[in-house]
This record gives sequence, C-alpha cells and structure tokens, in this order.
Amino acid sequence: MSIMPTPIMPTQCRPLCLKACCLVTLAWGCTDGASFAVVEHAPPNAPTPGEAGPDEPTQPAEELTALTRLDIPPGFPPPRIPATNPLTDAKIELGRHLFYDTRLSGNGEQSCASCHEQSKAFADGRALPTGSTGEIHHANSLHLVNAVYQGTLTWANPLLTSLETQIFVPIFGEEPVELGAAPFQVEIIERLAADAYYQEAFPAAFPERETPLDWDAVAMALASFVRSLISGNSAFDRFVYQGEAQALSASAKRGMDLFFSEELECHHCHGGFNFTEASVHANTPFEARRFNNTGLYNVDGEGGYPLTARGLIEFTGAPSDMGRFRAPSLRNVAVTAPFMHDGSVETLGEVIDIYAAGGRVISEGPNAGDGRSNPFKSGFVVGFTLNERQRSDLLAFLESLTDDAFLTNPRFADPWARGEDGAPTAAATR
Ligand code: HEC
Ligand code: HEC
Repeated sequence: MSIMPTPIMPTQCRPLCLKACCLVTLAWGCTDGASFAVVEHAPPNAPTPGEAGPDEPTQPAEELTALTRLDIPPGFPPPRIPATNPLTDAKIELGRHLFYDTRLSGNGEQSCASCHEQSKAFADGRALPTGSTGEIHHANSLHLVNAVYQGTLTWANPLLTSLETQIFVPIFGEEPVELGAAPFQVEIIERLAADAYYQEAFPAAFPERETPLDWDAVAMALASFVRSLISGNSAFDRFVYQGEAQALSASAKRGMDLFFSEELECHHCHGGFNFTEASVHANTPFEARRFNNTGLYNVDGEGGYPLTARGLIEFTGAPSDMGRFRAPSLRNVAVTAPFMHDGSVETLGEVIDIYAAGGRVISEGPNAGDGRSNPFKSGFVVGFTLNERQRSDLLAFLESLTDDAFLTNPRFADPWARGEDGAPTAAATR
C-alpha cells in the first residue's frame, strides 16, 4: 500500500483564527496564501472531504439503509451525509478502530476515546479535559450523540459544519493541544500503515482512492464512525415514537409536560427529536445556526463571560454574541455531567435551579457576578417557580432520555479491547 503523508499543519495564517478553529478557517481559504493541504494533496479522483452544507449533495436515504447497518430510530428524519463521503459499514468499522487507537496521538497514549467514553454518551466526566501534552482544554468535552444531526459542531463555532473538517481539530489543534499529532504526522501514518488490520481495512473502506491511507482517509473514516453514533431508544422514545404507554413513569410524564410548557420554555432551545434547536437533517429547508446566552456569568456587570470561553463572540466579534453557545442535545444528559460549555455545573438539579432563578449568581471568586441580569441573556431564560415534586418530575424526565442500548452497544465499543486471557472481547469481534 502506498503511503503519502501530507504536510497539513499551517505555520502561518492567524488573522481570522481563534484557538482551535484555525484549521477550520483554513478550509475556507486563507487571506495570506496558506492552503488547506489536506484538500490540496488529495489524489485527483478522490472525493474531497465533505462539506455537508445545505447545497451539498447528500447520500440518498435508501442507499444509506441498504448499504449500512445504520439504525435510524423511529421518529427520526434521515440524516444528511455528504455525497463526497458516503457512509459504508467498512468506513464505520475502520473509524471505530481509529477512534480507539492511541497511536493517533503524539505521545501514543491518548485516543479520541480518552475524552469521549461510550458509557458517558461519549463525554468524559471531567469539567475540562487535558490534552496529550498536559494542556487543559478551554471547553467541556462534548458528548457525541447524534452529531450527524448537528448543524454546527462544537460549543460555539458557526463555521464548523463538516465532521471531516472538525476531526482535524482534536488531531492537529495547537490551541489547545488535544491529540497533539501535528509534529508526528508522517510518523503516525507510518505507525498505522505497519498494522496488519489497517493494511486491509483502509483499501477495503476506500477502494476508489489511489492512496487509501492518508490523513484524508483517517478523517473520513472517523467522521463515518461519529455519524453512526445515533441514539434514539430511550424511555422517552419508546413512549413517544414506539407506542409503549408504560415506558415513562408518571413522574417523568409530568416532567415532560413541564419541559414543553410555555412557563419553563426549555423546548424553545432544546426542542425537536434531538432536543436541540441546532439540528439539521436531509430534509431541513434552511440552516438553523442558533446560539444562546443562558445567563451563566456576568463577570463585569456588563454581561461579560470569563476570557477562557466567551462563546460566539470569539468567532463573530459582535458584542451581542457574548456568552452565546449552541444548546446541547439533552439526549443521555443524565450521564454527561458536569454540564455547560466549561463543565461548571455539576448536577442536573443545579442546572434546573439556575434556569429557575433566571440565571446563575456567583457570589465570590474571579467569576463573581449576577448572570440573571446579563444583558445578552435570551428572553426565554426568565425564571420560574417549581415545588419539590415538580423539580423531581423534571429531573425524572431528563433521566428518561438515557438510552442504555446506546451506552452499551458493542458496535460502538473498543475493538482493540482484550480480556484478561488476552483474547479479543465480544465487542472487539462484532
Ligand atoms: C483532549 C480531549 C479530546 C480529545 C482527545 C478529542 N476530543 Fe473531541 N471534543 C473535545 C472537546 C473539549 C470538544 C468541544 C470543543 C469545543 O467546543 O471547542 C470536543 C468536540 C468534539 C466533536 C463535536 C461534537 C458536537 O456535537 O459538536 C466531535 C465530533 C469530536 N469532538 C470528535 C472527536 C474525535 C473523532 C476525536 C479523535 C480524533 C476527538 N474528538 C478527540 C475533547 C476531545
Ligand atoms: C434560550 C435557550 C435555552 C433555554 C430556554 C433552555 N436552554 Fe438549556 N441550554 C441552552 C444552552 C445555550 C446551553 C449551553 C450553555 C452554556 O454552556 O453556556 C444549555 C445547556 C443546558 C444543559 C446542560 C447540557 C450539557 O450537556 O452540558 C441542560 C441540562 C439544559 N440546558 C437543560 C435545560 C432545561 C431543563 C431548560 C428549561 C428549564 C432549558 N435548558 C432551557 C439553551 C437553552
């Protein structure tokens, strides 16, 4: 198999770039002449990694279900898959191996799964993760649940719409370093090329590519695996979409009514089948790129958020975009603590209390301030009163969004896992 590692990391081009989005800005072209080498070096006939924007052709839904083991749950629309990287089982399976492969990091110790654990709906249980060089990330590791339906990726980047592009951020990003692969990009491709599994799996997944193993292919396979992480079999789904009248407890049903009430307003931002207003799918007529300020901070009395993570304003520069973040999907939210873009809220009970108060008051420390009076706060976060029973009903509803089959599905588990006897585990052989 031929190996063609390509120089990817930009050494210049910072004018529009903030933090890890630098790579992404490059994908749109850069004013000072640097180019996005991944695309530039792709073999002539190879598909360009997907830009699954609204005008991009998408893989037809019939082909999706015929060619892949993707289970689209009842009540879910067909996802939007870029025609430049059609989903196949071979790519999903290859992507699963790469997702759990520590050889993808600079120090050989971290994989995607270090920050995205299946049992936590692919979040990691930490407020802020640490990358392979020990650098602490500025944002909470997002869960990877139905990412295929996210109109934009990460907590607050309006430009990042393609998983193929996003995946280079944790691999090569330098601000902060996550997998820290940038200085080792040639070496890492060589490591993968030396592995017997990959020697077969890359050509099988990319039969049309002249160079089946390069960084493009790695990103396309990882994107395919991430797209396959679809969760839609919670108690809520069984009750609403699958006609199981007993699936939800009486308390969770009351909590559902509260969640969708005009008094609590949750559904405005966490509505729809994926519990976020930011969803797109194959039939979405226009792009929804919504970001909201929920009044978590007010460090300067003028609506300021801590400098480490200020949300949409970092990308647009518009003052009114201060503290605006993408509403996360609430699917599996009971296993993804701690919460919010910076992991600063530990429990779901606390989340409810913050919304009930109409924002968060921090009384001491560097982030002290009254988020309730943040001038950029959404008009839907106005506060409400719940009695004890209603509060536990709302919690029961949020807990009913947990999909145990997703959290334990062997198809999403570590394929390299070995039991104590050194033999592959059940998950590894699926
Ligand atoms: C050091 C921890 C870390 C590692 C390693 C890591 N991630 Fe992440 N991931 C994060 C954080 C933090 C975010 C949120 C980033 C942000 O908003 O700026 C994120 C966001 C994402 C998202 C966006 C999800 C969404 O809903 O928008 C995807 C997809 C993703 N990661 C996939 C991967 C893949 C694939 C790998 C391996 C190549 C990987 N991650 C490695 C921490 C990590
Ligand atoms: C104005 C839109 C809006 C409304 C209304 C809203 N949310 Fe949110 N929600 C968001 C945004 C945006 C975030 C992320 C904020 C951040 O990290 O700064 C969020 C975060 C959350 C989180 C944390 C999820 C995670 O993975 O970290 C939970 C839980 C949540 N909201 C539940 C609710 C509930 C329950 C209600 C109703 C009481 C509600 N939300 C109302 C927009 C909203």
